[in-house]
Amino acid sequence: MNLLDIIRKRCSIRNYSKSPVEESKINYILEAARLSPSACNNQPWRFILAQGSDTIRKIIESYPREWAKTAPLFIIICGDHTQSWKRPSDGKDHIDIDAGIACAQICLAATEVKLGTCIICHFNAPLIKSSLNLPDNIEPLIIISIGYPSEATLFETTPKKRKAMEEILIRL
Ligand SMILES: Cc1cc2nc3c(=O)[nH]c(=O)nc-3n(C[C@H](O)[C@H](O)[C@H](O)COP(=O)(O)O)c2cc1C
Repeated sequence: MNLLDIIRKRCSIRNYSKSPVEESKINYILEAARLSPSACNNQPWRFILAQGSDTIRKIIESYPREWAKTAPLFIIICGDHTQSWKRPSDGKDHIDIDAGIACAQICLAATEVKLGTCIICHFNAPLIKSSLNLPDNIEPLIIISIGYPSEATLFETTPKKRKAMEEILIRL
């Protein structure tokens, strides 16, 4: 698969099989995260690899969805506001952009090795911050569920609903 094939294949998987994820694949995904670009190369992130039942329970408490209970592991992308780049002209903190790029790299690397992912932001952020005892400067930004899809065909059958190029492209 070339990169566009992987991009086309990636979709939100919200039902996982019980098969465990191999350590080699976890390391592959984490390396894709580590190599992500970031503003000023500040790398203001922490990646929490959540595999233990206690941590997964805390994630589900902050995002109570039945489908999420089927995921064997999660990566929580956290941002360290003391390390993120703030644009001098307006003070804009680029932490969300940095985390978003790392998130994309994680999801695409996972797709390449046949793992399903779902990006989750609709979680209870204060709850997970306190249940995981995260320090004040560390913000949980994105949770990604990861696992083998319950059926391999989910990659092909999940619809790709996207706007047409003419709706989103402005050529000047
Ligand atoms: C920033 C962001 C936050 C998202 N949060 C959630 C979420 O909390 N729960 C969920 O089920 N999906 C979530 N999604 C997944 C989107 O609904 C999904 O990517 C979108 O509908 C496109 O579908 P696709 O991923 O299958 O291509 C999120 C996606 C992004 C990019």
